[in-house]
Amino acid sequence: MMLYPKNRVKEPPASEITPKETYQAFELNRRQLVGGLAATGAVAGLAAAMPKQARAEVKLQNLVTTQYTVPDRATTPEGKAKSYNNFYEFGEEKDDPARNAHTLVTYPWNVKVEGLVAKPRTFEFGELFHLQPMQQRVYRFRCVEAWSMVIPWDGFPLSELIKVVEPLPTAKFVQFLSLENSKEEILPFGIPWPYSEGLRMDEAMNPLTLLTFGSYGETLANQQGAPVRVIVPWKYGFKSAKSIVKIRFVKHMPPTTWNELAPNEYGFYANVNPYVDHPRWSQAHERLLNSYSLFPQVVPTLMYNGYSDQVASMYAGMDLRKNY
Ligand code: MTE
Repeated sequence: MMLYPKNRVKEPPASEITPKETYQAFELNRRQLVGGLAATGAVAGLAAAMPKQARAEVKLQNLVTTQYTVPDRATTPEGKAKSYNNFYEFGEEKDDPARNAHTLVTYPWNVKVEGLVAKPRTFEFGELFHLQPMQQRVYRFRCVEAWSMVIPWDGFPLSELIKVVEPLPTAKFVQFLSLENSKEEILPFGIPWPYSEGLRMDEAMNPLTLLTFGSYGETLANQQGAPVRVIVPWKYGFKSAKSIVKIRFVKHMPPTTWNELAPNEYGFYANVNPYVDHPRWSQAHERLLNSYSLFPQVVPTLMYNGYSDQVASMYAGMDLRKNY
């Protein structure tokens, strides 16, 4: 499966804005992906040194560790975080994305910011990448089928981008759209293209909401949603759209993939909540995917994934059974 983001526009080359090593590695990766220079020694050396699914990864520099860490759990081994994924554009099984996402072309990559903003703009990836210094945070990342990982995600608060485009007072929600096209019109489980997710404006502005470019100190692997995704650490994993090409500011709650497919199972808010079960399973406990063990540790799930202090006030007075 080859994927071609639609919004290709002519922009200054990334070499003008991205540090040379980063740019070169991206460039190398791009060439590798399109097969252009696969025969040269340099590319062959890189390919030999890295496992197939990790070709896009480049070390991030000058990371700042924030206070938003969760010290009570061990960090998930990197290999696990990059081989157990949901990315339905690349298959249905958890190990499919790591196997198939090498076909994702991440260079060039543009993110169009549009809708109810004073300064709509298309960011070439390098411009977005350099908007702010990268920060590293250890998050508990919990998927809806009751498994969780602790992943150090690297990026900067989405609010920094939002400030640049200046939302209008009428903008109440933010919608994220993932990569758009494929020969296949329908994804597994009948998911339509593109994958769509959304947040309320205050959620999008919360300092925990991360525009994410990397993990474990390296740029994102394709199967993690390279080159840029969001991470919303107090919500179930499906809220965190991968490989984003469009960020749209809107007045009304936007349609979101899982909510459209199964509204009684997946709400718009999707806050981690051990007291509200999914109709088909309990959400009170989670399996820590911290090892390759056949018997993962099971622990009680924390309200808002352990981030109540930072986020609970946004939902004060709301009925969390109705707004699940
Ligand atoms: N984004 C896109 N574009 N496509 C997807 O299939 N899956 C979602 C979310 N973002 C998905 C996506 C789901 S269901 C989960 S649990 C998380 O990505 C998984 O992220 P991870 O693979 O980094 O754990």
